[in-house]
Order: sequence, then C-alpha cells, then structure tokens
Amino acid sequence: MSITVRAPAKINLHLGVGAAREDGFHPLVTVYHAISLYDDVTAVAAEAWSTPVDGAAYVDLASVPAGEDNIAVRAGQLLAQRHGLSRRAALSTYKSIPVAGGMAGGSADAAAALVALDRLWGTGTPDDQLLALASRLGSDVPFALLGGTALGTGRGEIVEPWEDNGAWWWVVVPSEVGLSTPAVYRHWDALFPDAPAEPPPAHRLVGALKTGEPLRLAAALHNDLEAAAIDLRPDLGALIEKGQAEGALRGLVSGSGPTCVFLCAGAEEARAVAAGLAAEHPVVLTAHGPVAGAHVLPDA
Ligand code: C5P
Repeated sequence: MSITVRAPAKINLHLGVGAAREDGFHPLVTVYHAISLYDDVTAVAAEAWSTPVDGAAYVDLASVPAGEDNIAVRAGQLLAQRHGLSRRAALSTYKSIPVAGGMAGGSADAAAALVALDRLWGTGTPDDQLLALASRLGSDVPFALLGGTALGTGRGEIVEPWEDNGAWWWVVVPSEVGLSTPAVYRHWDALFPDAPAEPPPAHRLVGALKTGEPLRLAAALHNDLEAAAIDLRPDLGALIEKGQAEGALRGLVSGSGPTCVFLCAGAEEARAVAAGLAAEHPVVLTAHGPVAGAHVLPDA
C-alpha cells in the first residue's frame, strides 16, 4: 500500500519581524498564504528510511538532504516515536517547490510525510497533536498542514486560519542560487540592531483580504526581511522593479528569499507578466492562492 500526500508552497503576505529572542529565533507576526505549487510525498512501508527525490527541471534536486538528514524522515521518526512504533518507510518526493527559496519547500515535505505516515500506519493522530509535532520540525511546518491563509505568531509556528475572500494570482520567479534563511535573519539583525521586541502587526491586510480586491492587497503586502534579502542579493531589487514595469500590481521577496512573487490583477495579467519576465529569467511560474494544506491524493 502507498499513500501520496500533496503539500503547498507558502508565501508571506505580511512578515513582521521583532528583535531576536534568547533562543535565537525571531518573534514574528506573519500572514501565510498557500499557493498552487506543490511537493508530493509518497509513503511506502520499508525496512529502512529512504528519500528518493525527483522533481521539476527548475528544482535544484542535488541540494535536497538525503536519508536521515531529510526533514521528511525526521517527521516520520517523530511520528513513530510519538506512537511508540519502530516502523520505517520510503518517502519518495516529487518537488515543484524551489529548494532554499523562501517558500517552505522542506516544511511542505515534512507536513506531507506526517499526514502520509499517519494514514499509512493508521495512527489517527488528532489535528492538534499533528500541529504540535509539526512545530517541533520547523517554524513553517504547522502552516503547511493548515494551508489557506493564516496568521502566524510565536516564531511562526502558532497558526490560525485568517479570513481571505480573494482568489489571488501570482507570478513566481525562483532564483538559480538559493539564500540561507539563517543568513538572511543574521543580516537583518546587523541592519536593524534597535528592532523592537514586538513585530509590526498586520492591520492593513485584514481589510484587504476581506475585500478580495487585488489593488487593496497590493498596497498592504509587507515583508520586513526584504531589505536584508535585497542587500545580500541586489539583483532581487532589479527583478521586482522589472516585474512591476511588466504590469504586476506589486512584487516582493517571498519570506527570506530569494524567490520573488508578483501579485497580478488576474490569471491573464499573470500570464502576461510571466511572459515579460521570461526573456531574462529561465524559470517563471504562475500560481494562485489560497489553496488547501497537506492532503491525501486519491489513488492514481
Ligand atoms: O524553524 P526553521 O528551522 O524553519 O528555522 C530556520 C532558521 O531560520 C532558524 O535556525 C533561525 O536561524 C531562522 N529563524 C529565525 N526566526 C524565526 C524563524 C526562523 O531566526 N521566527
């Protein structure tokens, strides 16, 4: 028997960052948004853990950690431990989410592995316990379970669904070279040594998401990490300007980057912006949101 689970990429519609806590993590007020780029994880019972990885041509598969360093395996080990099981599995992953791109691809794989193995093993873990396990695996993993649009607080791991009446269209431009999330946070610390402990709230987004109007959302998008990411990678600033010149309502760095996302007025506009950017960028994708969190796919 095999179980395949699909989990979405995230972008941050709002990413407010506060000064680093004693544990080194930064307090966040963020609005996560799941978009239609997915990783699929197929779990099959096996004697040993393994993580065969395949994916879209633009995904840097070589930099996905193998075996027990892979976050999907760590998810499986945590679930097994939680239920006192000594079971193992092969977790074959098909990746469409860029690696080290600021879109939480590893977190999606972990969330997908939790849901797939919970089904395969028949462990029936209640949602609140699955979310608690997810938060131990990484700050963005609980959101990958939840999907949709959600407020994230704490270090990002405390999530609650957020009202979103829009159907938003995005152009997504991954970078050929990844950016390390810890490096971007460290650079943000250096740029903003006097940052307040409380991250800025997401008030402007509340109204924008309720109206479903792209222009309102464009004006409310906010990412505190953007300055640090662009300082490390000035080409991202040029890319954002170019996308906006091509007709995007607003471009911004996704999370800690380097992927940049562009909000467009609709599907047709997104295709036009993507075509305009494709001349200079080898990979330009379109996606819509919000979409569901990690979910089991019907048998093929
Ligand atoms: O939780 P996760 O493993 O995704 O975090 C990766 C790294 O990103 C952390 O080790 C930390 O350097 C940084 N981080 C942070 N504050 C957060 C989330 C992540 O400093 N709220």
